[in-house]
Amino acid sequence: MANSRRKLIFNIYIGFYCSAVIQICICSQFTSSSIDPFNKDRGAFPVATNGEIFPWCELRLPTMVIPLHYDLFVHPNLTSLDFVASEKIEVLVRDATQFIILHSKDLEIMNATLQSEEDLRYRKPGEKLTVLSYPAHEQIALLVPEKLMADLRYSVAIDFQAKLADGFEGFYKSTYRTLGGETRTIAVTDFEPTQARMAFPCFDEPLFKANFSIKIRRESRHIALSNMPKVKTIELEGGLLEDHFETTVKMSTYLVAYIVCDFNSVSGTASSGVKVSIHAAPDKWSQTHYALEASLKLLDFYENYFDIHYPLAKLDLVAIPDFESGAMENWGLVTCRETSLLFDPKTSSTSDKLWVTKVIAHELAHQWFGNLVTMEWWNDIWLNEGFATYMELISVNVTYPELQFDDDFLNMCFEVIKRDSLNSSRPISNQAETSTQIKEMFDALSYEKGACILNMLKDFLSEEKFKKGIIHYLKKFSYRNAKNDDLWSSLSNDCLESDSASGGFCYSDSKTTSSTLAFLRENVEVKQMMATWTLQKGIPLVVVNREGRSLRLQQERFLNGVFKEDPGWGALQERYLWHIPVTYSTSSSNAIHRHILKSKTDTLDLPEKTSWVKFNVDSNGYYIVHYEGHGWDQLITLLNQNHTLLRPKDRISLIHDALQLVSAGRLTLDKALDLTRYLQHETSIPALLKGLEYLELFYHIVERRNVSDVTENLKHYLLQYFKPAIDMQSWHDEGSVWDRRLRSALLKLACYLNHAPCIQKATELFSQWMESSGKLNIPTDVLKIVYSVGAQTTAGWNYLLEQYELSLSGAEKNKILYALSTSKHQEKLMKFELGSFPIRMIISGTTSHFSSKDELQEVKLFFESLKAQGSHLEIFQIVLETISKNIKWLEKNLPTLRNWLLISI
Ligand code: BES
Ligand code: ZN
Repeated sequence: MANSRRKLIFNIYIGFYCSAVIQICICSQFTSSSIDPFNKDRGAFPVATNGEIFPWCELRLPTMVIPLHYDLFVHPNLTSLDFVASEKIEVLVRDATQFIILHSKDLEIMNATLQSEEDLRYRKPGEKLTVLSYPAHEQIALLVPEKLMADLRYSVAIDFQAKLADGFEGFYKSTYRTLGGETRTIAVTDFEPTQARMAFPCFDEPLFKANFSIKIRRESRHIALSNMPKVKTIELEGGLLEDHFETTVKMSTYLVAYIVCDFNSVSGTASSGVKVSIHAAPDKWSQTHYALEASLKLLDFYENYFDIHYPLAKLDLVAIPDFESGAMENWGLVTCRETSLLFDPKTSSTSDKLWVTKVIAHELAHQWFGNLVTMEWWNDIWLNEGFATYMELISVNVTYPELQFDDDFLNMCFEVIKRDSLNSSRPISNQAETSTQIKEMFDALSYEKGACILNMLKDFLSEEKFKKGIIHYLKKFSYRNAKNDDLWSSLSNDCLESDSASGGFCYSDSKTTSSTLAFLRENVEVKQMMATWTLQKGIPLVVVNREGRSLRLQQERFLNGVFKEDPGWGALQERYLWHIPVTYSTSSSNAIHRHILKSKTDTLDLPEKTSWVKFNVDSNGYYIVHYEGHGWDQLITLLNQNHTLLRPKDRISLIHDALQLVSAGRLTLDKALDLTRYLQHETSIPALLKGLEYLELFYHIVERRNVSDVTENLKHYLLQYFKPAIDMQSWHDEGSVWDRRLRSALLKLACYLNHAPCIQKATELFSQWMESSGKLNIPTDVLKIVYSVGAQTTAGWNYLLEQYELSLSGAEKNKILYALSTSKHQEKLMKFELGSFPIRMIISGTTSHFSSKDELQEVKLFFESLKAQGSHLEIFQIVLETISKNIKWLEKNLPTLRNWLLISI
């Protein structure tokens, strides 16, 4: 998955960022409630657009005034592509103040008035407010003539208007083409993290939860959807209609959503009576059925699992033609990219099905994790995203066991380890203040590493206790906000909420001090342990050294591409220490042994003599293991003699760890390759695919270099080694999910290596498909391969491009895009990529196999030029580190690879 979830939009934010920081420095001396801008030093405050002093200088809103309820009316015009709107915000004043600060971005405020409760009671008209605007902080200030009094409620009414946004943020327009070739427009919102302020002035921070009553005016050819069910529709003069929606539960602004569209839907009812509907553009309605089945199943699952009812009467999921992220969990109105929700049995593969299931599992998990209980601030976004990602594993395993999601989860952890073992990584919990910094938090570390460490904690605490803890957390913080420590306390909490809670701790009986102490101890343990995983970047390496029955353990920071003998290695290790819940199994029994490694070194005693020890049972821990001395040899012997003595996930983790250790210069490549030899007998497809993945990666890296002997020999080895398996593959969609994945992987490799029977079959299918004018159903498992072989001729390439324009299936479009990008016609590729690809994908996709100094230099210059134009992307650093790592890998391992191949083929 891409590094950040958002499609890249080149925005120049450096200027904004600096000015924001400078402002904080200048006026940090003034604290929120004490500010009286008109009496203090005026120079310390920012200047509003009209030249007056803006009374607030911080990025975060003051807490003197908090919102309770928003009445929001919106009237979008899908012809003139703008909207007029008004709102009434009921606020509570906590500390007397002379101004109210709200977020607002690119909105034209026409009028703002204020009424006190008394004014409302006596129907007195509102008093006009002065509105100041400070765009650098996306804030407006409403100045009141008389001080607002503490503990009183007021109503603020604002009339405003704006254009429907051009991008994919705020309240924006999205278009789609019908089968008949007509272009239609819809209006849709996407607010997370900080874009609600582009649609209505609001207190746009997750902590300011409120209730929302929404009204949408529309034409009769459209429908309107929002978070809540519709209460009524009013007919207005001139034929316009106005939908009134029920008032929402208490929620954060980033979860508000509304859509005006002409979509069709399918509906069903969950066991609890909640009405679930899937909406899509009329021509795509036939692709909505799988999503409905999955949403119903998953909603039932979560209501049961969390033991908390989904609190709304309906849940809509909508496939939006232009959508920035994969999907968004707006409460009651989940919005998705079309490929994340629609399933077309003709063109969607098993991986596409898994993706749709995963997206729904993820967004529905957010209805509890994120929507019901929300992180206090964006620095802890991992609480939302890591948890939703972790819940995908739990829910899909139960609702769709045939998808065998477990192995995907493991691969996801391996993927994020690659990122986390580069020095450019960051801690899961990270400071984030500006909108740009906040957006950057939505990366693999919040999602995937977050999920992997939660899985490790579950394994440490036991599934039952973990589940009890999260239910406790969700119930305790419902409709409120929480931070890391609240989660850790709930997870260490053995007693129920009904037992009296005091001072943040839970006592099952005030007299039984021993259980209280045990609880306190455990609480501290979980908190301390998890702090080492969330506040510290990177992943630990556990080095195991066995002598007789004694196991010496040592921990260090694992660094991919930095060797122990490198001068910088020592400095990069300083102050890193994890509390690692290690597990291990031995040749003597099936028992899983457990220990917490809290110090740099530790020694364990084995109860009996064993011939091998394998750490990180089932690969549930987030750490890499290195076996010093004869450790690796013993495991290689075991794999060759009887690999089934180890569990499949343990075999996968051995392949993974061994090859990671090669990149870190800790294990020689020939030893790691020797370990993969047993794969000839491997029956677990995920393990086989893991080995294949690495061998293919080496091929891609050497292929780019002028080392034709190694490239040819590796190609020969791969074809010879995997030929029996390749030849066994049919060109039909059949078998289990993993049988089908194996087929896709092996045939992709075979065609890539120009294996004649593969090319022949793919060419034949491609010609038939062209002759049938794109009507022939090619098996979905091989669709990408067939398109890719087809894309190598000019006629094929042009035909694919035509079909890309015509296709109504996002899954098919993606496969065509992939095929076009594999084209050897470079000039076409360049033109095409620049026109249509997200830049992140181009950059990481095209450079991840670069492995020479010239290429590194070229990429560096390219990034410099992008930076000069104002874009500064996190991916730059990652790409540069990845290429340097590849260069280093080749320098160190090429001779070994050459020799190993000579003796192996
Ligand atoms: N909350 C996110 C959507 C989001 C992403 C908002 C980035 C703001 C910035 C949503 O729950 C999400 O995580 N979507 C994923 C898909 C999911 C299945 C992993 C995405 O968009 O990649
Ligand atoms: Zn999410």
